[in-house]
Amino acid sequence: MSTQRPMSVTRFVAAKKSARKLSMLTAYDYYWAQIFDEAGVDSLLVGDSMGMVVQGHSSTVPVTLDQIIYHAEIVCRAVKHALVVVDLPFGTYHISPEQALESAGRIIKETGANAVKLEGGVTQARTIAALAGADIPVMAHVGMRPQSVNALGGHGRIQRDSDRLLADAKAAEDAGAFAIVIELVPRQIAARITNELDIPTIGIGAGPECDGQVLVMHDVLGLTPKSFSPKFLKRYADLRGVAESAVRGFVEEVQTGVFPDDAHSHS
Ligand code: KIV
Repeated sequence: MSTQRPMSVTRFVAAKKSARKLSMLTAYDYYWAQIFDEAGVDSLLVGDSMGMVVQGHSSTVPVTLDQIIYHAEIVCRAVKHALVVVDLPFGTYHISPEQALESAGRIIKETGANAVKLEGGVTQARTIAALAGADIPVMAHVGMRPQSVNALGGHGRIQRDSDRLLADAKAAEDAGAFAIVIELVPRQIAARITNELDIPTIGIGAGPECDGQVLVMHDVLGLTPKSFSPKFLKRYADLRGVAESAVRGFVEEVQTGVFPDDAHSHS
């Protein structure tokens, strides 16, 4: 059991000054969130990646505000230490800063999360400023933005426009974001952004120079099929294999009458 103090936005930001690397993982339900929290992860992201890894959609776009609130509330109930950040789903902040305030207000109030995340830099600066001005901590997300899958022409495309990426990151910082996710960007560009910003950068497919790293839990634990293997992904376990062989064992023992035996039966 970890004995660390609860992570706050202030401590999260201060980590950059002391050059302490930050770890972040996605989580969507109670026991996984509890395990990750006890293992000492700095931050849990209730990501709209749940549209893909929990709901089985081909993108994050269908995720609704009610759905993410449902999962975020469960995750927050499990967490004692980590900073909980919740994605604002597609379409819940694009209309106006007022819409974003309403959506983020619901997330913070109904789940107990510490912060929200939204995708965009320059185009979302007014919205980030409105949220930060209402004391709702905002993490921005630049580079490959999964909610823009239709505009970007698909997932998994490395973003290489260095000046534009830096402008996005700076706009988010200037507007009041406390941290920025940088997704699928060459490490040299992510390093430049990291050097130029005072707030922490959290990379996913953006190299080791970022101030922290985030991955999707299903990828880290090896729950996603092996055919999904982008270069940035490191699997730390093969839980898909473990789960498959456990279930095969169960099916076989039920079919052969080995389970339940005396030890697992009441008399
Ligand atoms: O939704 C998500 O899981 C994310 C991470 C990939 C950063 O935004």
